[in-house]
Amino acid sequence: MVSAEATVGVATAEAAGEDRGMSEPIKVAVAGHRGKVGSILAAALAAEPDIEYVGGIARGDDLAEFLHAKRPRAFVDFTRPAEAMHNVLAAVAIGASPVVGTSGLSAADIDKLETACKAKGLGGIVAPNFAIGAVLMIHLAEIAAPHFDAAEVIEMHHATKLDAPSGTALSTAKRLAARRGGKPFSHKKAEKVTLEGTRGGEEGNVAVHSIRLPGFVADQEVIFGLPGQTLTIAHRTTSREAYVPGVLLAIRKVVAEPRFYRGLDELLGLTGD
Ligand SMILES: NC(=O)c1ccc[n+]([C@@H]2O[C@H](COP(=O)([O-])OP(=O)(O)OC[C@H]3O[C@@H](n4cnc5c(N)ncnc54)[C@H](OP(=O)(O)O)[C@@H]3O)[C@@H](O)[C@H]2O)c1
Repeated sequence: MVSAEATVGVATAEAAGEDRGMSEPIKVAVAGHRGKVGSILAAALAAEPDIEYVGGIARGDDLAEFLHAKRPRAFVDFTRPAEAMHNVLAAVAIGASPVVGTSGLSAADIDKLETACKAKGLGGIVAPNFAIGAVLMIHLAEIAAPHFDAAEVIEMHHATKLDAPSGTALSTAKRLAARRGGKPFSHKKAEKVTLEGTRGGEEGNVAVHSIRLPGFVADQEVIFGLPGQTLTIAHRTTSREAYVPGVLLAIRKVVAEPRFYRGLDELLGLTGD
């Protein structure tokens, strides 16, 4: 039996909840929840008070049945490029906002996803890098780019990374070159090469170097040079938890407003200057 006092207590707590603007938790699902990043995200989502983690979907699971049963409001995808579009388009079709970290989606894929989100009045995001520090490292490097004669990018990743250089490093070099107002960086080529490849690759006159070693997650530094000085802007990750704050921020933003973002920098308001 519920006493009158207890009933009043519950009513008061509910009223207090309303006063604090408490609302239904955001239902979130993760595709790739057994993967390296997805497993960390699933655990982090389950610990957030304003989020209800409704479960994960793995390769071979029945996606349509999962979406129908769980009805997520946001759908996080950290799978494989060949799988992600199928997953997220199905999620959008049932009204879930996509939060896509999977690398390698084409520009045409992203356009298609944006169109699907718009048609359903949903927000969404595709971000090649959900680490907030990495996005800021690139932004700060873009500010420095016009003021230095030369720049080199060094990226360091875990030994199981399949591609080199990382997409982030390549896009950093392109973005830095684009900030030069038509004046190219100077790029010093070695006059005598005694070991092929040691000056790295080159994009927009920016040398790009890739290190692959166990122990790294995803680090990158940009080193700028001028006579008598260098400036290094470095981002280090110590675990894949690095992606959690950016993904949480993105989930809350895309369910709050029907806007589609291409990159965390856009969501953070760092673009368009
Ligand atoms: N945006 C960012 O900030 C960021 C950061 C890190 C990584 N990434 C990208 O995120 C993706 C995942 O990275 P990871 O390191 O976590 O890779 P991972 O450890 O290989 O995890 C991928 C997971 O997705 C599963 N999967 C494959 N197809 C699926 C499907 N159709 N539905 C559901 N799950 C499926 C895989 O299962 P199987 O093992 O059975 O194939 C695996 O468990 C990669 O594209 C990576 O480049 C992005």
